[in-house]
Amino acid sequence: MTDIFETLESEVRSYCRTWDTVFDHAEGSLLYGEDGKEYVDFFSGAGALNYGHNNPLLLQPLIEYLQSGAVVHSLDMKTPAKRRFLEAFNEVVLTPRSLDYKVMFPGPTGTNTVESALKLARKVTGRHHILGFTNAFHGMTLGSLSVTGNSMKRRGAGIPLTNTSSIPYDGYLEGSGGDFQWLSRTLEDSGSGVDLPAAVIVETVQGEGGLRAARAAWLRGLAEICSLHGVLLIVDDVQAGCGRTGTFFSFEEAGIVPDIVCLSKSISGFGLPMALTLFKPELDIWKPGEHNGTFRGHNPAFVTGAAALRHFWADSDFQLQIGERSVQLHGGLEEIALRTEGAHVRGRGMIAGIYYPDPETAGKIASESFARGLLVETSGPKGEVLKALPALTIDPDALRRGLAILADAAEAVTGSIA
Ligand SMILES: Cc1ncc(COP(=O)(O)O)c(C=O)c1O
Repeated sequence: MTDIFETLESEVRSYCRTWDTVFDHAEGSLLYGEDGKEYVDFFSGAGALNYGHNNPLLLQPLIEYLQSGAVVHSLDMKTPAKRRFLEAFNEVVLTPRSLDYKVMFPGPTGTNTVESALKLARKVTGRHHILGFTNAFHGMTLGSLSVTGNSMKRRGAGIPLTNTSSIPYDGYLEGSGGDFQWLSRTLEDSGSGVDLPAAVIVETVQGEGGLRAARAAWLRGLAEICSLHGVLLIVDDVQAGCGRTGTFFSFEEAGIVPDIVCLSKSISGFGLPMALTLFKPELDIWKPGEHNGTFRGHNPAFVTGAAALRHFWADSDFQLQIGERSVQLHGGLEEIALRTEGAHVRGRGMIAGIYYPDPETAGKIASESFARGLLVETSGPKGEVLKALPALTIDPDALRRGLAILADAAEAVTGSIA
């Protein structure tokens, strides 16, 4: 029988190659193939499913909305669903954190919010240069690629990616070089040959680039230098935000207030496409329609997004639960890492994994895991880090089962403890 996924779909397809099955239905942290095989999900739609698959708390209001005859598509027109989302975001996220941000709907994906952030930073400062970090990942459109590290992805642009520079992320130089020695010197020195940047864009945990997690003090240092030189600080919270690291925004622990924040992936809560760009009010110098797009205001995503915020973030219970699950996740990963010399745990909260010195190991463990009923992917320029991204709502038993599969798969690949 011909396989239409292989005959018709482009060579560019990727996840369906690594996980070669047809996924049929899903519930919470479990996915089922057409053949009935069950998979524990440590992938969570690359971070778009922080509340699990088909969460009934979000599914129910979505079904009611769709059956009610309410407006589904409306670009950025006003709808009650959009009003309710903005009210929930303001009441549950911004106000309790004393964050004074304007909210922009830039188009539905992570790369859309990053593009809008870069554009706005250049427009506000009148400068062209943007600094990004080694091993960063910000998306696949040209602006986002220009601040992304991965050389294979960069080559895909087919044109020079200019007006940006890459500087060392926390831990990249393994202790040497001082945290911001180069950056502070070059920004102070008019003879440094480095154009004063419009902005610095940073992930607090590098989701695709190898799970390095920036220390809170490093993030504060970066924020201080930016503020001292009038350089805007953009935090790309597309993957690490929406609770992934334990707090709603991943930068809360560091106590910094970025000038611009990018959110997407789990902001709709249900895996529906949606993105937000947040910025300080004084930066809101956009002309009406200067950045637009057909799919900015997707009402079903507003409905599930508002329900997710009101249900999970109105008090601190969920945050405490994420903390407990993170301890369980890190404990399990530590045990697995101990089996292999030089392996160690990376990441923060529920975005965590294991770095392996042999770059082949993580990929082999991920394939063994799939064969045993667990979806888990790799991260890093050579795929050298095994990356676990369970739903934040995963129950302790499913988390234990997933970790047990991972431990078996690791043992099959690396051998048992000496
Ligand atoms: C930190 C970060 N920024 C931006 C993106 C791009 O998001 P999208 O794939 O929705 O364009 C990603 C995707 O993984 C990401 O991890």
